[in-house]
Amino acid sequence: MTAPQFIQLEQHNSAAVVQELLQGLSASQAFTSPKYLYDALGSRLFEAITELPEYDLTRTEAQLMQLHSADMAQHLPHGACWIDLGAGNCEKAGRLLGPLSAGRYVAVDISVDFLRHALDGLQRLHPGLPMAGVGTDFSGGLQLPDELGLDPTQPRVLFYPGSSIGNFTPTQAVDFLRSLHLVCGTAAHSGLLIGVDLLKDAAELEAAYDDALGVTAAFDLNLLLHINRLVGSNFGVRDWRHVSRFNANQSRVEMHLQARHAVHVQWPGGERLFAADETIHTENACKWTVSGFDALLRDAGFSASRVWTDPAARFAVFWAQA
Ligand code: AVJ
Repeated sequence: MTAPQFIQLEQHNSAAVVQELLQGLSASQAFTSPKYLYDALGSRLFEAITELPEYDLTRTEAQLMQLHSADMAQHLPHGACWIDLGAGNCEKAGRLLGPLSAGRYVAVDISVDFLRHALDGLQRLHPGLPMAGVGTDFSGGLQLPDELGLDPTQPRVLFYPGSSIGNFTPTQAVDFLRSLHLVCGTAAHSGLLIGVDLLKDAAELEAAYDDALGVTAAFDLNLLLHINRLVGSNFGVRDWRHVSRFNANQSRVEMHLQARHAVHVQWPGGERLFAADETIHTENACKWTVSGFDALLRDAGFSASRVWTDPAARFAVFWAQA
């Protein structure tokens, strides 16, 4: 049995993290990057979100992948190098490696430590498949290390499921997708397999990001505890409420933390007064139409060669050839 290779790129240096967070918290409309939602507890709360009745994205995508895996095997290259973006527990790609006869598996996530356990487990299921785990923050564009020794003649399948692309505004998304297009390389038949949540009724979208059990509220509020640890601030969770708003003009659900009353927050070297009802914008979840996303892929250099959707057109999986 081969063993997975593990590579950690540039550990995000804490001075840069503090600077980025404080800059956002000090902006007139305060904001934070959604990547800070995922500390250890945040990652577990997100897994719980995927089980909620109101949040059907993950389930609908899994059904689509399962239902159409034979058709996908007709369109995607065999023996390809699969590059899994935000791989986490590696479950989604793990289910496709066999049916789509992958030739190599590269899992990418913000920290290589999230990948060790999952990759070791997946390696036991596919003893002969070469595997690697790469820790890198790819939110500003994907770049893979030379150490991986990617074979330029092996087709590549970039796998970006879960509608994580929705965290980017359309302008950010096109830049990000261009970086993925570059990583596809020059071998024939390479491409991007990507899951995209589709525009639907506003009330339904808002409920998906503000569930009755309050799991999404806990997920959003937990960000304050993470920020306190990262920058040494004194946010009190009970001073804030979670809000989810559908912004129709921008076709996105926005998550905000809203001050329940005037709040004075301090951190080493600074402070901010939030007025009652003032918010911190913590996440965007952009929703696309099939034709809108197809145009975005083309803008980024891909040709959208195949799309699979469920009968109610709630979610779409695109295979976009590089
Ligand atoms: C992981 C970014 C796809 O936007 O639907 C879920 C994150 N936030 N509920 C999404 C999330 C609140 C999720 N993504």
